[in-house]
Amino acid sequence: MHEFRYVAGRLHCERIPIESLVRRHGTPLYVYSERTLREHFQRLDSALAPLDHLVCYALKANSNLAVLRTFADLGAGFDLVSGGELQRVMAAGGDPGRCVFAGVGKSEAEIALALRAGIYCFNAESEPELHRINRVAAGLGVRAPVAVRVNPNVDAHTHAKITTGTYENKFGIAFEEIPAVYARAAKLKHLQLRGIQMHIGSQLTEVKPFRLAVERVAPLARDLANRHGIEFFSIGGGIGIVYQPALASADPKWWRTPAARQILTPATYAAALVSLLQPLGLRVLLEPGRFLVGNAGILVTRVEYVKRTGRKTFVIVDAAMNDLIRPAFYDAYHEIVPARKLTGKARPCDVVGPVCESGDYFAKDRPLPPVKEGDYLALLSAGAYGSVMGSNYNTRPLPAEILVRGAKAGVVRERQPVDAIWSHERLAAWQR
Ligand code: LLP
Repeated sequence: MHEFRYVAGRLHCERIPIESLVRRHGTPLYVYSERTLREHFQRLDSALAPLDHLVCYALKANSNLAVLRTFADLGAGFDLVSGGELQRVMAAGGDPGRCVFAGVGKSEAEIALALRAGIYCFNAESEPELHRINRVAAGLGVRAPVAVRVNPNVDAHTHAKITTGTYENKFGIAFEEIPAVYARAAKLKHLQLRGIQMHIGSQLTEVKPFRLAVERVAPLARDLANRHGIEFFSIGGGIGIVYQPALASADPKWWRTPAARQILTPATYAAALVSLLQPLGLRVLLEPGRFLVGNAGILVTRVEYVKRTGRKTFVIVDAAMNDLIRPAFYDAYHEIVPARKLTGKARPCDVVGPVCESGDYFAKDRPLPPVKEGDYLALLSAGAYGSVMGSNYNTRPLPAEILVRGAKAGVVRERQPVDAIWSHERLAAWQR
């Protein structure tokens, strides 16, 4: 469910017409609904109420300070993957004591930063990393809280680039090796074994892989609690969202259709997992990213040209793969709707950006009503892994970002000035 819908033929975010935002702020423009952010967090949080739990928002999905502040105010923790993300969380007023630090390649400097800030736990991904954390903690005269990421070898049936829970990829330590790894880690004086963590992949649309992975790891977690006194089990992120039909899913009635019943929701997720987790008596951590922010954001773009070749109609827009890379990178589907409802027969179009690559497209052969130069289109469900994966390719400034609350709109990222793109570049001494 989300807060983007047509009112009197105009697409709105909460109570604001999208066209009024683009008149004021230009395009390409990311627009986020604060209410959707809050509701998604609260739905997940309350579905898990029977458990002692902490929702740690995976900020890699969208790390805008205003988004972080929204979740911090709701009591969220955060799942970090870099020292930079930790500094962002602190800049947004988040509590380092509610942060877990994931990732296969933590540097010494990042480990030291996190120890000084007092994070809740490191999620370690290898034995060399456990040794490095131990060494850095010794240098600072502290004990570092650690969990080890277990790879449960469960296939999440998701896109190859975002699956993580099988032995074919770089993440975690194999299930069978975990007891021996904890036994060895327990001898490292500057580590405190605090938990166990897993994450099997992203954009999972069924509950079964989650259930299989929790069933597999729960006995191990119990054993580690008995032997080493761990206090939490993190079940990772990965809850998928509706990309299609994104717009219809704003309507509560749609959620009562047979198609909607197939969709993973906080209720079905909790129904499958709470009974497996509760008997452990451990604190449960979650690391959702996409579920909390994905449907809460759109990317608005202007139609620059409509180009008809013998075979195709190309709708050339002013956003590009540098603003939203998911279609180019993962063949991802994003629904595309006009900011003002258009009448007329829908025809297949390729919606493409101005970047000089054939991969720079948002949709191929997508039925669209007759659009013309100057119309605005919205790419839906762009709140997760949208702006954060942006780049300056083709010397294109990063878009502005707007957060909407009811009838109010706040600029939460200014459009990047073009000269800021090269402001850290220099001529070599001999060129000056
Ligand atoms: N925890 C860990 C250890 C992760 O690696 C990830 C995501 C998450 C949590 C959050 O997963 P989520 O709840 O958002 O599914 N750029 C890709 C997605 C990459 C996901 C990376 N890891 C995309 O646009 O689909």
